[in-house]
Amino acid sequence: MKIVFFSSKPYDEIWFTPLCDDYGYTPIYLTSKLTPDTAALSQKGDLVCAFVNDDLSEETVAELAKYNIQGILMRCAGFNNVDIRACQKYNIPVLRVPGYSPQAVAEFAMGLYLCVNRRIHKAYARTRDFNMNINGLMGRDIHGCTAGIIGTGKIGQAMIKICKGFDMNVIAYDPYPNNSLDIKYVDLDYLFRTSDFISLHCPLTNETKYIIDEAALSKMRKGIFIVNTSRGQLIKTDALLEALLTPGRIGGVGLDVYEEESDLYYEDKSSEIIEDEKLARLITFPNVILTSHQGYFTREAMQAIAIETLENAYALFNSLPLTNQITVP
Ligand code: NAI
Repeated sequence: MKIVFFSSKPYDEIWFTPLCDDYGYTPIYLTSKLTPDTAALSQKGDLVCAFVNDDLSEETVAELAKYNIQGILMRCAGFNNVDIRACQKYNIPVLRVPGYSPQAVAEFAMGLYLCVNRRIHKAYARTRDFNMNINGLMGRDIHGCTAGIIGTGKIGQAMIKICKGFDMNVIAYDPYPNNSLDIKYVDLDYLFRTSDFISLHCPLTNETKYIIDEAALSKMRKGIFIVNTSRGQLIKTDALLEALLTPGRIGGVGLDVYEEESDLYYEDKSSEIIEDEKLARLITFPNVILTSHQGYFTREAMQAIAIETLENAYALFNSLPLTNQITVP
């Protein structure tokens, strides 16, 4: 059985190769992104394994169907880049890894908050140059501040625990509240108005697209901190840029995801001219940190992703129940 990996990186091979050996599967690693134009490269495989920025639109899925691809393995949790209806139309099951290490992402989100609040990224750059001046690096105690968590699923819950560990006052919004959590659920408006720090942990859907837009930003406290480790389109970048231009309005922003990340992230673009002016502008702000969608990137998470992805392949190849299949509601 052959699995064609798109958008493959050396760290994928490290985890998948020995496990594929154990299962008796042959991995075919391709560095290309999956798009309608590259889908033909899947023809030597039985299954396709894709990642967060691969394009699984109807056009791509139709191409995969031409080559008799029997299933799509998403080696990630989010699936906003997959046209599930098209997959059902072409009878190609799609499986994902719903939860591998929620702590990895939540710890990273808190890391972004701490870093941007205390300007650790700036301090690091200064001290490397023996500039020991601390002007402009003043942050805020986070103890006692209010954390607003949007989305209280696996990662949101891990984040709530972390925030409580910092003695923060935690409030949350989720249209499907989990009453077993010791947490005060509030409506979005209240969350926007009363939080000192907002962390996004909901999926990207039609309802959540641009959940942080001009209107939301206008309600937020002066000096608000915002961290997004979920999906770029949860934040309207134009609105964020506008807000960042008013001194003091935004305390800091940590973005592990960006709405136009798909052609940029995971690639070394350091020798190229960056045409994305919004991204370039974001990077100029002293109170903004960008990372390249690496919230999940720990040993534990990578190992869990590889194991669960190949378990999904095993279920497909052996006609077992597909517990991680994504279906249209
Ligand atoms: P989950 O499915 O366990 O939780 C999502 C929560 O969001 C659920 O409780 C759901 O009720 C809630 N939700 C749905 N619609 C909402 C809305 N309109 N407003 C507020 N909340 C809403 O998902 P999990 O594992 O916690 O992951 C969350 C997101 O994190 C994923 O969808 C993915 O986009 C992102 N992610 C990012 C990673 C990274 O490396 N940066 C890695 C893994 C996931």
